[in-house]
Amino acid sequence: MAYSTKEKQLDQVKQSIIADNVCESIASQATQLVFGDGDVNSSIVFVGEAPGKKEDELGLPFVGAAGKFLNEMLEMIGLGRSDVYITNIVKYRPPNNRDPLPQEKKSFLPYLQRQLEIIQPKIVVALGRHAANCFLPELRISQEHGQPKRLKLKFSDNELTIILLPLYHPAAALYNGSMRQTLIDDFARIPEIIKQSNNNLEQLTL
Ligand code: URA
Repeated sequence: MAYSTKEKQLDQVKQSIIADNVCESIASQATQLVFGDGDVNSSIVFVGEAPGKKEDELGLPFVGAAGKFLNEMLEMIGLGRSDVYITNIVKYRPPNNRDPLPQEKKSFLPYLQRQLEIIQPKIVVALGRHAANCFLPELRISQEHGQPKRLKLKFSDNELTIILLPLYHPAAALYNGSMRQTLIDDFARIPEIIKQSNNNLEQLTL
């Protein structure tokens, strides 16, 4: 497979995280950086919180129990992992799977923004409150999950209109019957959102 310009640019972002020594305190305890995986030309990007144990071992996002559930939901809507791009806000595993700290999310945000600027998705699915709040700090996931929002991402010298879909985190929903069903129901809205995203996003009244 030819190494596309986007792949090259994303690799530079990955290398810059290492060169910039981002979050040295968790980087030093992690096995490796977990940057992202999937189709860099996809119109849909999933953003999770931070790698867990399995992700840290394999260097890929969402490959543990939550990832298996994510794969099942993707399949349910006729998509595979290779049809989408998946990443996290925080790119190193926080010790003992603790929640990422505000400073860690803040430190990684410019790199996530750069990833999105390169990929240019039409839809960003935020998995869980940490991801959702890095786009919309005031958003309450318990009240606004499953509700797509039109959003302008501002980069240093351009901007991108996206549809942000905030969802519950698959790990939180995995063993909680009602949250699990809610997440599955919200996920089932994605095909319709993809259809809408083929229209002019500027004109969508979300
Ligand atoms: N949970 C996340 O938020 N990200 C992963 O990559 C795995 C589990």
